[in-house]
Amino acid sequence: MKNRKVNPKPDTAETARKAMNKRNKKSGGDPNMPYYYVLGGFGGLMVVIVLYFVLNPKESFLDKQVVDQNEFMINNLHNQMFTAGPNEQFEGYTMNEARRFFNIGISETPNMNTCPPKEDIAIPDEYDFTKDPKREHCVDKEVRSTGNCTAGHVLSVISTVEDRICIQGKEGDRFRLSAQDTISCDSNNFYCDGGYVTQALEYGTKYGYVKEECFPYEGKNTTCPVDPNQCREDKEAYHLLGYCIVQGPIEIKKEILKNGPVIAPMTPFTDFLTYKEGIYHPQESAFKFNGQQALKIVGWEQTLNGEAWIIENSWGPSWGEKGYAKVMAGIRDIGLDYIGIAPMPTGSNAADWEVESEKLRQDYAKYAEAQKAETEQVEGIEVEEVDA
Ligand SMILES: *[C@@H]1O[C@H](CO)[C@@H](O)[C@H](O)[C@H]1NC(C)=O
Ligand SMILES: *[C@@H]1O[C@H](CO)[C@@H](O)[C@H](O)[C@H]1NC(C)=O
Repeated sequence: MKNRKVNPKPDTAETARKAMNKRNKKSGGDPNMPYYYVLGGFGGLMVVIVLYFVLNPKESFLDKQVVDQNEFMINNLHNQMFTAGPNEQFEGYTMNEARRFFNIGISETPNMNTCPPKEDIAIPDEYDFTKDPKREHCVDKEVRSTGNCTAGHVLSVISTVEDRICIQGKEGDRFRLSAQDTISCDSNNFYCDGGYVTQALEYGTKYGYVKEECFPYEGKNTTCPVDPNQCREDKEAYHLLGYCIVQGPIEIKKEILKNGPVIAPMTPFTDFLTYKEGIYHPQESAFKFNGQQALKIVGWEQTLNGEAWIIENSWGPSWGEKGYAKVMAGIRDIGLDYIGIAPMPTGSNAADWEVESEKLRQDYAKYAEAQKAETEQVEGIEVEEVDA
């Protein structure tokens, strides 16, 4: 917001005084009293305006409602690229309250494995996972709604893992995994207060993700059940072998074509919250929020204004184009073109994975047993030596 000059114009005060005098003539009484009263009030108001806009220009903006019909009218009259409109996600939220949804980071450490280089894959001008005839059956029926929980870092991960398990095709129809389990039970992140994408991936690597019905989404700070989840008891968890990152638009595209959608960080601007349709890019009047949103890149397309990424968000189907958006590519401030994060699900069903992990466990048990025997032997020898 630009600084506003607030010089009280003398003619404005003069007009106010005249109007007040006129009114007072009608109602009688001392004409001078209201005159000073008006000036005093006027000056006081100026002080408030000065404090509001000049000293703390963001203050008023933060108190604004995100869903604001007047803003939509202004945007939709002037913005040729995208329209703005209401959505259920931010209905009733002020800009200030919306800030906490971006308490999200990619990783606590800069060390992440780069995905192995790929053989040459021909990159088409346009690709959309949600419309790919070979993969359509792997598209979620409805995009997720984060509710009143900062969970973009988990929802983007879970949704991408689901797509990829389905694309690998060993498990039949697409099914949902539980985001709530990861949100509530992963003590290395911050529950409904946000966290790191890579931590949500570590959780899947170590413990696996259980199915949605095992711990359905609530979109609030539900505590992790004390009793172990029945699905975990039954060893039904879908593990990741790990995850890796691809860098730059070309590698991001190759990864999507080869293995499926990727998770990506995006810098959020205020006008993104009420994006409705078209090609998004931040308007000059928009503010940048601190933090990140984590979302899923599902494809790209060519527009009159250049290339756009097609992304899936987690703000429900009433946001954007049924929960999806097209975001102008190559805009540094948005930061969408830099990295994609690729989870690598085992892709086999839980039982198959169990066979694998059972074998690992047995190997480990043998190893541990051998270590123990050796230690005892060493101790035995020591004892003998002492005795001798
Ligand atoms: C959303 O969550 C925040 C923080 O956990 C809480 O302060 C606020 O009251 C909640 N809002 C609603 C509408 O539930
Ligand atoms: C959410 O729950 C965790 C414990 O499960 C707690 O540490 C955290 O403070 C809670 N956050 C809020 C906003 O209630």
